[in-house]
Amino acid sequence: MSGERFATPKAPLGTAARGLKAAAGGGRLVVVSNRLADPRKPAAGGLAVAVGEALATSGGLWFGWSGKTADDGAPSGHLQVQHAGKVTLATLDLSRDDLAAYYDGYSNRVLWPVFHYRLDLAQFDDGHFEGYQRVNRLFAQKLLPLLRADDVIWVHDYHLIPLAAELRALGCEQRIGFFLHIPLPPPLILAAIPAHEWLIRSLFAYDLVGLQSQADVAHFTRYVQDEAGAEDLGRDHLRAFSRQVCVRAFPIGIDVEEFSALADTAESIDTRDTLREQYAKRQLLVGVDRLDYSKGIPQRLRAFGRLLANYPENRNSATLIQVATPTREGVGAYDDIRTQLELLAGRINGDYGELDWMPVRYIHRTLARKRLPGLYRAGRVALVTPLRDGMNLVAKEYVAAQDPADPGVLVLSRFTGAAEQLREALLVNPYDTGGTAEMIQRALRMSHQERVERHRALMQRVREFDVHWWRKAFLTALAEAQRAG
Ligand code: G6P
Repeated sequence: MSGERFATPKAPLGTAARGLKAAAGGGRLVVVSNRLADPRKPAAGGLAVAVGEALATSGGLWFGWSGKTADDGAPSGHLQVQHAGKVTLATLDLSRDDLAAYYDGYSNRVLWPVFHYRLDLAQFDDGHFEGYQRVNRLFAQKLLPLLRADDVIWVHDYHLIPLAAELRALGCEQRIGFFLHIPLPPPLILAAIPAHEWLIRSLFAYDLVGLQSQADVAHFTRYVQDEAGAEDLGRDHLRAFSRQVCVRAFPIGIDVEEFSALADTAESIDTRDTLREQYAKRQLLVGVDRLDYSKGIPQRLRAFGRLLANYPENRNSATLIQVATPTREGVGAYDDIRTQLELLAGRINGDYGELDWMPVRYIHRTLARKRLPGLYRAGRVALVTPLRDGMNLVAKEYVAAQDPADPGVLVLSRFTGAAEQLREALLVNPYDTGGTAEMIQRALRMSHQERVERHRALMQRVREFDVHWWRKAFLTALAEAQRAG
């Protein structure tokens, strides 16, 4: 697929440049997200890296949850302001009850599973909705006094969908854009959320809604046309609920330079050399994920087990290092996945392990970000096989970490946002155990020439649509979004 599908900005360069100035130069950039990271320290990845990059470039205000709960029984709302270089960090503590309802509850027991197509894991009836509304209202109340007239506000992710509507209700007239980092499901899945209409109507309080993929944009468009009779105004603008909004795909990318610099650190080089030495006579496969049910890790282990069963030449050779970072441990569905994985890894190791070789090395910890490029470089094959993923930046980081003269192979789920761009990866259906095992075998046996050619095409895409492109494309479109109410 060509990159042209994402080649915003669509306006002539001059207009685009003026737009960017209005968005980032003329007005201060205000970013709002649930989690923040100190831009002076290396962030753990994903959203925090991308948002940190956007702010570090232009300076501005970053507003969100402090990551802390208020002292026992104290209410939400204690605001702390710190300065980190050009960036001001303003963070709120939340009470235990608010956090339980807004974050563990509505965000991670309703929106996260449904938006990842997992209606079976959603818990609609636990009164979390009121907490979600309450915390979004509180964010708006606390943010409003910090705003300046020419600020441009950029809100991130599913925790904060109604924030613009809350800000507008308080009289906020600044431009506000929203970016959803996770997938947007098809209309009939979305419609299972009792408050679905309210949620989607809230998005019309923004001037621009950015989604990860063309598939997500198509789902959104179909939903608002079917459920709210939206009118297509052209140039990606839709009108419904007496408002108009611009909706477009901005596939998020990585900071290739930052990642290359990380690859040159002593930790990264040490990781690569140690693993290469240990696995000199074997083939290493790597998987790095948050331990989330959307990531398809059990399915991946089953496919790896099938590889060893069906292609015995891989026994005593192919070794999977699976890093699964603990996450959201307060939410029940995450305990189940942990137990499942431990059983599967144990079974494969029991069935195929030798005195001096274990097929699966399963690590349930956070790996320092500085070690990642080394791990990726040592891996002959990366298994990035989520059941559903908004984008997946591990896929892009793996490509960026390879030696172009002797690159590894990316096995990528067709159900990631990244699959729309990274067509030269080996695309798999992670639900198909046999098919995935076959594709892993193909990856392990791929010729040097094919590896180099595929990697060259992938790297070009990763470089072109990097995090800088993402920020510029989004902020330009936000400056240019038509505002007629
Ligand atoms: C995903 C979400 C982010 C979230 C991250 C980590 O990437 O899109 O919004 O911050 O996961 O999850 P956590 O719940 O720990 O913030």
